Amino acid sequence: MDAVQQWTEGVSYAPCPPDEFCGRHGEREQLLALLPRAAEHGQAVMISGPPGIGKSSLLRWLAYDLQDRPDGPRSPVIRAEVFEPPRMIFSGFRKLLYDLQVHAAAGEFQEILESGGIREAAGYTDILLLKHGAPVEPVDLLPKTGDEIVGVFSRPPDVGYDRVRAAFRELLRGLGSLMRDSGRIIAILLDDAHHTPYPDSQLLLDTIQDLPPGVLFAFTVQDDPGYEAIHDRGVPHVPLRGMRGRDIQEMGQKRFDLAISDATAALLEETAGDPFSLVACFNALRRRNLAPSAANIKDLLDEEEDPAGLAFTAIPGYWQTWARDLSLLSPPLPAPVMACMLGMSETDVTAMADRLQESAVFRRLPGGAYAFAHSLLQEHCRQRLSEDTEVALNARAADCFERFMHHLPGRLNVLLSIASHLFGARDYARAVDLNLELGLRFYRFGDYDSALLLTERAITSAEHLGDGDLLATAVNQRDLIARGMADRA
Ligand SMILES: Nc1ncnc2c1ncn2[C@@H]1O[C@H](COP(=O)(O)OP(=O)(O)OP(=O)(O)O)[C@@H](O)[C@H]1O
Ligand SMILES: [Mg+2]
Repeated sequence: MDAVQQWTEGVSYAPCPPDEFCGRHGEREQLLALLPRAAEHGQAVMISGPPGIGKSSLLRWLAYDLQDRPDGPRSPVIRAEVFEPPRMIFSGFRKLLYDLQVHAAAGEFQEILESGGIREAAGYTDILLLKHGAPVEPVDLLPKTGDEIVGVFSRPPDVGYDRVRAAFRELLRGLGSLMRDSGRIIAILLDDAHHTPYPDSQLLLDTIQDLPPGVLFAFTVQDDPGYEAIHDRGVPHVPLRGMRGRDIQEMGQKRFDLAISDATAALLEETAGDPFSLVACFNALRRRNLAPSAANIKDLLDEEEDPAGLAFTAIPGYWQTWARDLSLLSPPLPAPVMACMLGMSETDVTAMADRLQESAVFRRLPGGAYAFAHSLLQEHCRQRLSEDTEVALNARAADCFERFMHHLPGRLNVLLSIASHLFGARDYARAVDLNLELGLRFYRFGDYDSALLLTERAITSAEHLGDGDLLATAVNQRDLIARGMADRA
């Protein structure tokens, strides 16, 4: 990308590429100091901080340093990102296994990983994870006549949690010992682990509690009281706070070609020291061709009430439109659904993908789907939709998902999207059954938060429809979930 192009589009709000990563020297040292312990005993580490503070970027830097840095340790890294629930049971862990299988099938680590039969062990563990969640994956829940969704039969899981846990533990043991034989470690990186619902959260806790030698498990969480429990269990903690003046100057220079004075850096440290706000400020300065003076920064910050607003105004108009129109979709965003939302034909998907490559607002996920470059931008767009636009976009989204549902991977995620968009479109007659049915499914799996969200939607829908029987069923289901929650607490 040449310089002119870059300043039209701006620096991306996606996690920072490792070669542009700035500052955080103390935190980097803290992470690297854990490696000898990871080799000897197995080691977990938690990176935490508020949205936009740089957690994903630090994790990405760690992946580069361990695996790709030319004179680095060349240790294999497997990674996954957890998206907001409701999601498929164990979806984050399944992505980790997928990444491992890709490593074992091709690339630099193929030889080591193949030698221990790791590909097979990962495949077996994946099947167990899938089977454990199978009744939640409603393969039978298909549209019957185009506008009616039929129910499915429930059955208890074929594979209990203990077997899943044991298979995962065995796999990690195998990986750890293979790595030790080759004088390395394997790093498992899980981004946004605070999103993991039960039973995923149980597998996370059990895993970090009992890591075998040769394994580093690093995960990020937003500052969240629930995760203090992990810290209490003795997991080392790397909390991220705002950037310091010197690091802000480095970021201005390295990523924006801006010379930041000590006075400006001091002002930024005090007012907008989190990296997301810094990227927004520097993009806005570059786009408007303003000098990075303290006075200009002050004016910019006064203009918008939040950094995402500043970021939004600094992107070109066509990206603003795309961002608004896509803001109601939950990641991962399937490319055909995005194109459909934007009024493009199926044949335009490749052209859309080409344009997205240059975007500062969207990022491509492994596997080919997309996400907003940063969730703060998506949230900003979502919150500013008018009520009418929100209803209309939800109706369009439900329609687009239904149109492509047979070609998209992860049927449960598709159904969850349809359930959410039908409800948002106020199509209560079609929303009620699907939300109720999915709510029951998540209840059976102990993901009570997702179950409650879906069931509340069914209650609201039944109220709008004035359907007393459905309302009573949905309220019953909510009581059941409340009892489950109380018992677990
Ligand atoms: N050390 C860094 N050097 C340069 N840029 C950074 C650094 N850390 C973060 N950034 C930039 O700041 C923005 C926010 O960073 P990032 O996405 O890593 O935050 P986060 O804490 O993971 O946010 P969230 O909690 O919402 O996931 C991104 O645009 C990223 O490129
Ligand atoms: Mg992040």
